[in-house]
Amino acid sequence: MSEKKNNKVKGITRRDFLKGLGSGAIGSAILTGGGLIPAESKAELLGPGAEKIHGTQKIELLINGKKERLTVEPRTTLLTAIRDKLHLTGTKEVCDRGQCGACTVLIDEKPMLACMMLAVDVRGKAITTVEGLSGSGKLTPVQEAFVEKDALMCGFCTPGFVMAATALLKKNPDPSLEEIKQGLAGNLCRCGTYPKVFEAVKAAAAKMRKGVAHE
Ligand code: FES
Ligand code: FES
Repeated sequence: MSEKKNNKVKGITRRDFLKGLGSGAIGSAILTGGGLIPAESKAELLGPGAEKIHGTQKIELLINGKKERLTVEPRTTLLTAIRDKLHLTGTKEVCDRGQCGACTVLIDEKPMLACMMLAVDVRGKAITTVEGLSGSGKLTPVQEAFVEKDALMCGFCTPGFVMAATALLKKNPDPSLEEIKQGLAGNLCRCGTYPKVFEAVKAAAAKMRKGVAHE
């Protein structure tokens, strides 16, 4: 590409761009990670709809069977939306980078890490947090078993384990110890309560098979 062409992007020359940064345009400029870019130039450089990359938008999420309307930025994670906007603080933020499983929620019944998803990407999906498991106020067999088997110490990892175990038992009602370990492999416990957690999941599976299921 010639230097002349390089200097011109979609009809905007470098000169136009710099002129756009003049005092008259500063007021409408948008602060980005790369610097100060006038809104009009940015829209032209990035194409139609680019102006929507920044700012906030109203979205609706289906959480625990309830439609929730909230205002988010495009970068807002599902975890931030759940905890900071909807105040459902049962879902824990520990590593915030997809490594510990503390933020596990169910999305369309599959265990997913809320810190690794954008809120705008889960519109139209059924999201369940730990608060949504015991809708009628009665603990589920998994929750009961965690209490009975004393499967927690500080408890920070517990909601994530409960959600992952709930998803596992839905798929596999009679898992072996190895299958339980594999099913919960994405969840870490700094207190080292793994043996009790595995015992609790075994006990929950037995309860559910006997029909002591949550109603
Ligand atoms: S907080 Fe999401 S994986 Fe650790
Ligand atoms: S009980 Fe403390 S991190 Fe698991």
